[in-house]
Amino acid sequence: MKDSLGAAQSLLVLGGSSDIAMATARKMAALRTKRIYLAGRTSRQLEDNAAELRQLGATVEVVPFDAAATDDHEKVLSQVFGAGDVDVVLMAFGVLGDQAEDEKDPVRAAAVAHVNYTGAVSSGIVVAQALKKQGHGALVVLSSVAAERARKANFIYGSSKAGLDAFAQGLGDSLVGTGVHVMVVRPGFVDTKMTKGMEKAPLSTTPEAVADAILAGLRRGSHTVWAPGAFRYVMSGLRHVPRPIFRKLPM
Ligand SMILES: NC(=O)c1ccc[n+]([C@@H]2O[C@H](COP(=O)([O-])OP(=O)(O)OC[C@H]3O[C@@H](n4cnc5c(N)ncnc54)[C@H](OP(=O)(O)O)[C@@H]3O)[C@@H](O)[C@H]2O)c1
Repeated sequence: MKDSLGAAQSLLVLGGSSDIAMATARKMAALRTKRIYLAGRTSRQLEDNAAELRQLGATVEVVPFDAAATDDHEKVLSQVFGAGDVDVVLMAFGVLGDQAEDEKDPVRAAAVAHVNYTGAVSSGIVVAQALKKQGHGALVVLSSVAAERARKANFIYGSSKAGLDAFAQGLGDSLVGTGVHVMVVRPGFVDTKMTKGMEKAPLSTTPEAVADAILAGLRRGSHTVWAPGAFRYVMSGLRHVPRPIFRKLPM
């Protein structure tokens, strides 16, 4: 449960080695979030993140979780919720893929869709049921500006995020009145290991700035958060550009 000052006391991260998730967890641990579950694939990064959050005074448990292993989601996540209420769940896993390669290989292309969309649907359903049962909590879903309109340069990732985004919006609407809130976050280019070595796009931002936008959105009870906020207006324009023109844009 949130404490008497309205701060989340517990956080479950799906994709616990994500840079954006870690920036968010750091800020929450520095406030009053003292129980943190980092769910992810076993890695040095995941363990290092757990150690750093413990240094900040949080009790941290690492939970083995593979977004692609949908058959395991119910069992793994039920164990977390079985140990006590969770105030905030941050769905942060995702893969960008390499579109040039993925376009030539159906197995690679489907793997991007499987993690970003199918993995999110499966774990999202389990989380929604658990939050509904406890009667409170927020699910924060890291979508992307790429979900708003698929670009020819990354339509495999973009379409998987569009599916995820639509799923999260519908899930949120279905949970109104249950005490559970779903917040969709749409960052632009964020400087993380996902985008390492790539040329920065306009309006690029940092994991810390996205974390600030997430925390502000939770305080406000927003259903959609853009990071940076200017993307709300940029994408509202781009959404309406006619296809023959859109496909010629250098993006
Ligand atoms: N960076 C950007 O420009 C940007 C922009 C918009 C949206 N986003 C979204 O923000 C989220 C976080 O990304 P990030 O920028 O923080 O990048 P990141 O540091 O690379 O984080 C991505 C995370 O996804 C995890 N992951 C990948 N496949 C997984 C699987 N099968 N099971 C469990 N975890 C898996 C990775 O874990 P491993 O260590 O196991 O690989 C990693 O922790 C992603 O959903 C991404 O699509 C990012």
